Amino acid sequence: MKTQSQDFAELKVDGKVIRLPIVVGTEGERALDITGLRRQSGLVTLDPGFANTASCTSQITYVDGEHGILRYRGIPIEELVKKAMFVDVAYLLVHGQLPNASERRSFSEQLNLSSLLHEDMRHFFDHMPQGAHPMHILSTMINAMTAFYPNVDIKSMADNIDESCARAISIVRTMAAFAYKKSIGEPVVYPRHDLSYCANFLNMMFDSPVKPYRIEPEAVRMLNLLFIIHADHEQNCSTSTVRVVGSAQVNLYATISAGISALSGPLHGGANQAVMEMLRTIQADGDVMKFIRMAKDKDNPFRLMGFGHRVYKTYDPRAEIVRRECDAFLSKLHYRDPLLDVAREVEAAALKDEYFIERHLYPNVDFYTGIIYRAMGIPENMFTVMFALARLPGWVAHWREMIGDDTKLVRPRQIYTGCPLCGMDTDLSVNRTLVI
Ligand code: CMC
Repeated sequence: MKTQSQDFAELKVDGKVIRLPIVVGTEGERALDITGLRRQSGLVTLDPGFANTASCTSQITYVDGEHGILRYRGIPIEELVKKAMFVDVAYLLVHGQLPNASERRSFSEQLNLSSLLHEDMRHFFDHMPQGAHPMHILSTMINAMTAFYPNVDIKSMADNIDESCARAISIVRTMAAFAYKKSIGEPVVYPRHDLSYCANFLNMMFDSPVKPYRIEPEAVRMLNLLFIIHADHEQNCSTSTVRVVGSAQVNLYATISAGISALSGPLHGGANQAVMEMLRTIQADGDVMKFIRMAKDKDNPFRLMGFGHRVYKTYDPRAEIVRRECDAFLSKLHYRDPLLDVAREVEAAALKDEYFIERHLYPNVDFYTGIIYRAMGIPENMFTVMFALARLPGWVAHWREMIGDDTKLVRPRQIYTGCPLCGMDTDLSVNRTLVI
């Protein structure tokens, strides 16, 4: 809940004092409300990367980067991973509270009913080039849903919000598994109503006509946990993308497609794949300290992937959970991964290095997740897809909150730094005979 406190900040510009109201969030975070600033002073604010800008108010997720706190709708992430399933958390994010027994049943039913992909869309997969990244396939496919499903205008979607949300959350899982099956040349496996959300996904990924997949309860538990910790993270790059695109009153599927594209970048969700590539390179080289030096060298573009975060200036609470679970999970599966040893070495070296200490750079959520996915048999090019599946409820919740909030079209300003007014110094009419 946002409250307008009695406090104001005063800004003195050109001899004029401008009073800016201070807005206070539920947890006491304070913000200057600058909506009237330009009207009163002619000034805008400049904040590249929006590192110091709250783009909206939101009741969904609370992150405290200084103290390593993450809560969905007020509930600490540590509690949710112990007591809830991913589907409960999806419901919590989208609907604002955990489901009771009958809400849980009807949400699961809705997810099941929406899990089948329009059969004609299956042919799309056949025409994707071999080797296309599954994230790009996924964003293309979800965008195509706009053409395949009726009533996708924002009003119809908002009027049937439960159905729209359930379809988005459920169908992307089917698309992701189909994309994988196509990439390895195997027949797709259809979703089953008798399986839970995560078990269903693993079955669609790994079942085959010649070798039925035995669903491993430990893998299902771990996938639930990983999906829960990724389910939302307030105004991260992809969620902000969903809100920006959605603010133009674009339908849910198209906004999610845009969110998936944002997530695919190596500085965002793509980092989990990049971490594995980095760990392999370090393993092949054998000299961990060389890579620590490279990460610190300003003339070298190399960065420690899976390290650092825009908001967390302490250990990412999600990374804390994954780090703890990683060892236990691998030993339950009797799986030994030498890359885990490399990861531990890199972490230990970085955490005692002055460069990383001074800049508050700790492992983030992507540092250990890849090792767990690898143990589950998920291929590396699907890692970011896993992130996207998990983030779906977050995107849906933010889209829903945004359309309900009477949000303005997002349209930031800029400070123009190009040429001042000048005339055309070339007479283009001279070359009119050229075909251009
Ligand atoms: N390795 C080496 N130096 C780093 C790293 C890193 N991973 N991250 C930040 N720094 C340095 C950076 O060079 C800068 O140094 P200086 O002050 O001397 O110029 C300082 O730390 C601050 O970095 P920044 O780039 O200004 O910080 P940011 O908030 O813009 O960047 C980040 C956040 C996540 C993009 C960055 O830490 C990074 O590139 N990390 C590696 C990629 C990664 O793991 N991304 C996943 C993020 S978590 C999952 C998600 O939410 O998507």
